[in-house]
Amino acid sequence: MSIEKGREITISVLKFNPRSKVSKPHFVDYKLEETPGMTLFIALMKIREEYDPDLSFDFVCRAGICGSCGMVVNGKPALACRTLIANYPTGVLQLMPMPAFELIKDLSVNTGKWMDAMSKKVESWIVDNGEERDITKLEERMDPDVADETFELDRCIECGICVASCGTKLMRPDFVGAVGLNRVARFEVDPRDKRTAEDFYELIGDDDGIFGCMSLLACEDHCPKHLPLQNKIAYLRRKLVALR
Ligand code: SF4
Ligand code: FES
Repeated sequence: MSIEKGREITISVLKFNPRSKVSKPHFVDYKLEETPGMTLFIALMKIREEYDPDLSFDFVCRAGICGSCGMVVNGKPALACRTLIANYPTGVLQLMPMPAFELIKDLSVNTGKWMDAMSKKVESWIVDNGEERDITKLEERMDPDVADETFELDRCIECGICVASCGTKLMRPDFVGAVGLNRVARFEVDPRDKRTAEDFYELIGDDDGIFGCMSLLACEDHCPKHLPLQNKIAYLRRKLVALR
């Protein structure tokens, strides 16, 4: 019985170590055989195990949950573990690190540092104005529709793909991005958060926030969790523009 060979694919990776004095950005091509159901993550693991142990890229869950494996694939940001090689008919994939984040090495970028700064900027936590809680009382019930809406926006995995896709972010380095605006929308809908529209305006009522977005839509096009980013941004903009 003959075993059919998979097609030959080419993974072309931009390699660069910004901490090395001798490293210069350059592409390295790796040729390998495609296996059934091969994801880009599997291909990168194979490259690292068999051809180049020095290749840097991030991953944790391999299941589209942790948000670690974002990279630019043929010009579009995507999660490596959710990218099927079979969807690329030419069999050629060019990989670059996501822009907008600090480059660690090769395909590895520091999204955590950026997300931490963004979270602090938009005060990404429930603000209840210091109300005392009686912990002996039953928990307050939340309307199921409101709970659903909150959980829907909470599905963000902080992968940074919306930020790497965003034209506004390239023009305005301090723009909080769709992920930051989505975060505000998440707390705005939560009845436990006592912040008013004026409070949210203080946080995002400028061109680094809600008025910076140019509605280019790439954030929503590329978000691997299909979050309703543009709807939420439009809603917040309508709400806050009245305070300008
Ligand atoms: S909004 Fe979507 S693309 Fe942006 S960080 Fe969250 S999951 Fe990733
Ligand atoms: S490895 Fe976790 S999202 Fe890809």
